[in-house]
Amino acid sequence: MHRQRLSNDLFESKMNKIQVKDKSFAISIPAAKIHEQVCRVAAEITRDFKDREPLFLPVLNGAFIFAADLLREVQIPCEVSFVKLASYQGTQTTGEIREVIGLAHDITGRDVIIVEDIIDSGLSMAHMIETLEKHNPASISVCSLLVKPDALRVKVPIHYCCLEIPNDFIVGYGLDYDGFGRNTKDIYTLC
Ligand code: IMP
Ligand code: MG
Repeated sequence: MHRQRLSNDLFESKMNKIQVKDKSFAISIPAAKIHEQVCRVAAEITRDFKDREPLFLPVLNGAFIFAADLLREVQIPCEVSFVKLASYQGTQTTGEIREVIGLAHDITGRDVIIVEDIIDSGLSMAHMIETLEKHNPASISVCSLLVKPDALRVKVPIHYCCLEIPNDFIVGYGLDYDGFGRNTKDIYTLC
């Protein structure tokens, strides 16, 4: 029994730091804190969208874990459809091009809730909103797990946010470094 507890402690202390490819990350937001904030936001959405049957649009890949946890806490009838932002380098003058792909659902007249992992510069979200507006939804709300307020370069409406974080690079709970590090329960910051 004692040996079991000891080895669990050792395991947990090891998990305070993780290695993702060539970089080290230290735990910054534990799973319990994430869960608490996801439940708070889900309760706010449940209250605000009662009788409106919203359509959730999680943005792949980063929002897949957040969306799965959030949706299971939302207590009203709703639909879910996934979208993805493809980004590629344009010409030097246009810089990075972002394109919304996979919008399979008719969003005309619908109350749409975009579910994002993180808003950093805000450019992706600004483009997402601009694209969705062309389809004449009844409303667009933004729900982001994380926001880096100091990194914002454009003004975007953020209706629901679980946590504001400093301008550091993070991984875990869906967020990646070069494709890896998404599959953790906690969130980690680059050391
Ligand atoms: P934005 O267009 O600068 O707001 O970038 C948003 C996207 O960049 C997010 O959806 C993430 O995919 C990615 N991103 C921004 N910050 C981080 C981070 O700290 N870790 C992992 N991905 C990030
Ligand atoms: Mg993302």
